[in-house]
Amino acid sequence: MEEKAIINWLFLTNLLVLQILKVVVCANVPAIIVFGDSSVDSGNNNQISTILKSNFEPYGRDFYGGKPTGRFSNGRIPTDFISEAFGLKPTIPAYLDPTYGINDYATGVCFASAGTGYDNATSDVLSVIPFWMELEYYKQYQNELREYLGIEQANWVISEALYLLSIGTNDFLENYYINPFGRSSEFSIEEYQNFLVGIARDFITELYYLGARKISLGGLPPMGCLPLERTTNIFWGSQCIEEYNNVALQFNWKLQALVANLNMTLVGLRLVYSDPYEILYEMIQNPFAFGKSNFSLFYWLF
Ligand SMILES: *[C@@H]1O[C@H](CO)[C@@H](O)[C@H](O)[C@H]1NC(C)=O
Ligand SMILES: *[C@@H]1O[C@H](CO)[C@@H](O)[C@H](O)[C@H]1NC(C)=O
Ligand SMILES: *[C@@H]1O[C@H](CO)[C@@H](O)[C@H](O)[C@H]1NC(C)=O
Repeated sequence: MEEKAIINWLFLTNLLVLQILKVVVCANVPAIIVFGDSSVDSGNNNQISTILKSNFEPYGRDFYGGKPTGRFSNGRIPTDFISEAFGLKPTIPAYLDPTYGINDYATGVCFASAGTGYDNATSDVLSVIPFWMELEYYKQYQNELREYLGIEQANWVISEALYLLSIGTNDFLENYYINPFGRSSEFSIEEYQNFLVGIARDFITELYYLGARKISLGGLPPMGCLPLERTTNIFWGSQCIEEYNNVALQFNWKLQALVANLNMTLVGLRLVYSDPYEILYEMIQNPFAFGKSNFSLFYWLF
């Protein structure tokens, strides 16, 4: 594959930050708390036994010190930029990384795991951290935070923090469309989408009852344009796979309906939907407009 150009993260992230700012305007953000997959994993997979790691070159070549950290990126990932934009740390440490402690996590922590999905069956594929387990780690973090800051201060951080959720691609590309004896034999694509949205609903509701109030739920990228999908699309000259993109769009509509519904029913919750689809699609179709000859979305594969 000759596509080497890498997404202009800063551009994308500015857009996401703007969307998020709408929710938290004039508000304090003492910490950023991250759940999800490889799009936001800052190194948790380094600490578990999975083959799905990125702690080797060329990952990290544009990171501080040119160091691969376990981020599936040439440099920092969107959540790092968002943290910096809120005046917090320039990078968000991974919860399982033993070189960090609660003093670091008090202003930002990442529970994400590359390769995971909403569906338990997705995290099983490559033995990564299931989504429900990310929430268990978060509960443990809450206890540590209360011990570190005292109950009152910790509860303030928990309710004022910004929670970022970015997950879902792997449920389709690593699970549903890959294993013919798995979910695709059990659910139609629409039923599967509804099943995942139900898990998202339960997750956000539990997070709310644990004290979270400012949450951003990320939609799917144009997953039919991921390099692996394009490369295997021999019939269409390596163009994006439209079916997968349509599934992403349809799923994103369902997430938006969920966001509107939960934001209305859970009192005091400020939940927003962040859409990476349109901007990424535009960048892939029209890279010259962004000062590049092409873009590669390889980092989002897992
Ligand atoms: C993509 O861009 C890189 C440099 O940014 C270039 O080396 C490569 O040939 C380009 N690939 C295609 C398919 O245009
Ligand atoms: C996923 O697994 C956990 C732990 O076994 C379980 O509590 C949860 O109900 C499962 N989720 C679904 C949607 O089946
Ligand atoms: C969410 O609810 C708040 C009030 O709690 C409201 O101000 C806001 O506009 C709603 N946002 C969306 C996306 O529905």
